[in-house]
Amino acid sequence: MKKLNEPSSPGVDFNDDNSNVSANPTFDSIFAARMSRRNLLRGSMGLAATVAIPTFGLAGCGSDSDPAVVPPAAEKLLGFTPVAKSLADVVSVPVGYSVSVLYALGDPLFATTTAFKNDGSDADFENRGGDHHDGMDWFGLSSSGTPSRSSNDRGLLAINHEATTDEALSSFFLHANGGKTTLPRPAVEVDKEVAIHGVAIVETRKNGAKWEYVQGSSFNRRITPLTEIEIAGPARGNALLVTTYSPNGTKTRGTLNNCGTGVTPWGTSLTGEENWFGYFSRGAADNAARGADKSVAALNRYGRAQGTASRHGWETAGTDDKYARWNNSKLGASTTGSDDYRNEMNGMGYIVEIDPYDKTKAIKKRTALGRFAHESAAFSKLVVGQPLAIYMGDDSRNEYIYKFVSNANWDAADASPADRMATGDKYMDAGKLFVAKFSADGTGSWVELSLTNALISAYAAYKFADQADIVINARLAADAVGATKMDRPEWNGVNPANGEVYFTLTNNSNRRAEPTGSQTAPDAANPRTYSDLKGTATQLGNVNGHIVRLKDASNAGITFTWDVYLFGAEASADAAKVNLSSLTSDQDFSSPDGLWFSPYTGICWIQTDDGAYTDVTNCMMLAGMPGAVGDGTVKSITYPRATGGDLVVSTRVGKTPTADTLKRFLVGPSGAEITGATETPDGKTMFINIQHPGEGTLQANLADPTKYQSQWPANTGYGAGKRPRSATIVITKNDGGRIGS
Ligand code: FEO
Ligand code: CA
Ligand code: CA
Repeated sequence: MKKLNEPSSPGVDFNDDNSNVSANPTFDSIFAARMSRRNLLRGSMGLAATVAIPTFGLAGCGSDSDPAVVPPAAEKLLGFTPVAKSLADVVSVPVGYSVSVLYALGDPLFATTTAFKNDGSDADFENRGGDHHDGMDWFGLSSSGTPSRSSNDRGLLAINHEATTDEALSSFFLHANGGKTTLPRPAVEVDKEVAIHGVAIVETRKNGAKWEYVQGSSFNRRITPLTEIEIAGPARGNALLVTTYSPNGTKTRGTLNNCGTGVTPWGTSLTGEENWFGYFSRGAADNAARGADKSVAALNRYGRAQGTASRHGWETAGTDDKYARWNNSKLGASTTGSDDYRNEMNGMGYIVEIDPYDKTKAIKKRTALGRFAHESAAFSKLVVGQPLAIYMGDDSRNEYIYKFVSNANWDAADASPADRMATGDKYMDAGKLFVAKFSADGTGSWVELSLTNALISAYAAYKFADQADIVINARLAADAVGATKMDRPEWNGVNPANGEVYFTLTNNSNRRAEPTGSQTAPDAANPRTYSDLKGTATQLGNVNGHIVRLKDASNAGITFTWDVYLFGAEASADAAKVNLSSLTSDQDFSSPDGLWFSPYTGICWIQTDDGAYTDVTNCMMLAGMPGAVGDGTVKSITYPRATGGDLVVSTRVGKTPTADTLKRFLVGPSGAEITGATETPDGKTMFINIQHPGEGTLQANLADPTKYQSQWPANTGYGAGKRPRSATIVITKNDGGRIGS
C-alpha cells in the first residue's frame, strides 16, 4: 500500500496511521547516550555466506519425503550481476533470468468465468483475481492432487489481495467511468470493491516450460470480506465480539487488508489483517451514544475516533446488513451490541488461519496472537518438546513488535497431521502474548501481556476485564507495559541458518531529535532522524527505514539480543548519520517492507514499498546473505538540539555488506511496490507480487491511457485493456539454476 510522501498519490494514506499517542517512553535515550563504544562491542559470530539446509519452514503436510536440498557444486549464491536503479515501467531482473506474468487482477478463476476485459465493465470479482496482490506462499501438490512438500511443478498459491487503488473513495480502475467519488456510494460499485479484497487460493502448474495458473481448478477459491470466519482462541464468545451477525460472538464475516503471510509447520496458510480500521466509519456523536464507556478509548487507540470517515464509504451503499456493518457506531438500544455493529471492528485485526487444501474446513481468526495491524507471522525454529514462538509486527508509526509462545510443546508428528486446522487449534489458541522492549545495551526483553502484570491490571487508561480484552486491545496492553515504539514494523522472517528473526521497519516520518506532539525521539533501535530531498521537497524523520534483527534466548525465552542488519539509505547519503550500512549504488534502497528467507537457499529477500527514493528509482527487491546479531560494530549519532545539549544516540550496526552479500535483484514497474515471495522447494522458481502499478494515476485521467503512471502488465502483452493491474510474476533462471545464484 502506498507510503507517505508518494508523489502523485492524491488520497489519504491509510497505511501510515499514527494512533499511538501513549506516553510510554520510546527508549532511554539518556542511557543510550552514555553507552560507550567499548562496552557495546560484543563477540561477533562469523557466519559463512553459504547455503543452509532448511530444517523448518516447509509445509510439513504430505506423505512425500523431504526435498533433497543439495546446492549444486558450482553454485555461487548472489553470483548474479546487480540490477541498476530504474524508473522504467517494466520488471527488471539480472541478465540470465526470465520473468513472466502468472495471475493478475480480474483473471478468471472458475470454469465459467469470462475473460477479464479490464475496462471497468467486469463485475463478478468473487470469481476473479483480487486487487493489490501482497503476501503469498506455495503449498505443493503431488501429481495426484494431495499435499506435497517436494513438488516443484504443481501447487497452490495462497495470495493476499490487500487493497485497491483509490483516490477519493472510489477504486477507480474497477469502474468504467472511475466510479462515484461522493457519498452515498452506489451498491454496484461497492460490491465490486468489497470483492477484490481478501485472499485467493490459486492452483499453479508448470505446463512444459511455461508456468500458468489453472482456471477451473477445484482448489481455486476466493475468500472475501463476506466469507464466514470463526473466532478462535481467548476472544471466542467474548462480549466484545457480539454483533447482529453473531449474537454469541463466535464468528464474523471476512478478512480484510491482508498483507503479510505465514506458513505453519503443519501446512496451513496464515494471513495478517493490516489496515482494516480504515474501512469503518464512526458517527460524530458516538462517544456520547456509548455513554463514554471504555470502548471509546479502544476505538481511539485503533484509529477510529468518533466522526472518522471510512476509506470507501461502503456503509452508505444501502440498508442491507452487508453495508450497515461498516458503520461501527452504536445505533441500537441493546446493552450487548446484538442489534448493531458497534463491536464489528473487534472482529478484524488478527492472524487468520486457512487450510489451502480443504475448502470445507472453517477459516479461523487466531485471537491469542493479538489484534493490531498485522503483517507476517514467522515461526521460530522447531524444537521437539519446546513451545513454538511466532513473531509479529504492528505496522503503524510508533507501534510494537510482538511474539506469541504456544502452551503446547512441539511434537514432530504434527508436521503431517490428519487434521491441519485442529493442529492449529492446538498450537495457536492457547499461549502467551509478549511485546518487545529494546534496551540500549543491545539486549531486550519480552513482556507478557496478561493480568498478572500489575502495569496491565492497574492500567489507568483502560480497565482490562480478562485475557480476551487484552488480546483484542493488545496495543493498549503494550502501552501499559512501556513497549518500545518502533519505526513501523512491517514483515518479519526467521533466518533458517541460525533462527534469528528479522523485522523490516519501513520508515517513520514522526522521529525527531526534538520531538513535539506525537513525535518521538530517536533511540538505539530506531536511531535515525534526518532530512532527505526528494526532488525539491524535504522529507524528515527516518525516511528510508531499517531492518532490526533479534536473537532470542529460546522460543519461550523472555530475553534477546539485537542489532540492525541494514539501514536503508541512498548511497550518496552521509555515512556518519544516514548511510550507516555504507550501501553502494548496487545495494541502496529505501523503505524495506516485504522480507522473506528462502528456506531452500537461505537468501534473505528484501522488498521495498517506497515513497522517498522514488524520484530516482521504482521499488525493488534485493538479495542478502546476512551474518548474525553482533557481527558488526557500534556507531553513535550526535543530534545538536536548539533546546540545548546534544542528543547522542548509539546504535548497533550489523556488518557492512559487501558486493557478495547484498545485491539488487529486481526493480519493478512505475508506481508499484514489490511484495510477496515464495519458491518451489528446488529453489528454481520464484513467485513474487507486483502491487499497485500506476497507483499515482489521477482518476481524472482514466479515459486517457497515455496519462497513466503505468500500463503494466498490458505493456508486456498480458491481457486486455491498458489499465494497470497488480499481478503475480514468475522468475526463473535461464540455465535452470536456483534463484539468486
Ligand atoms: Fe501491507 Fe504494512 O504493508
Ligand atoms: Ca532523496
Ligand atoms: Ca506491505
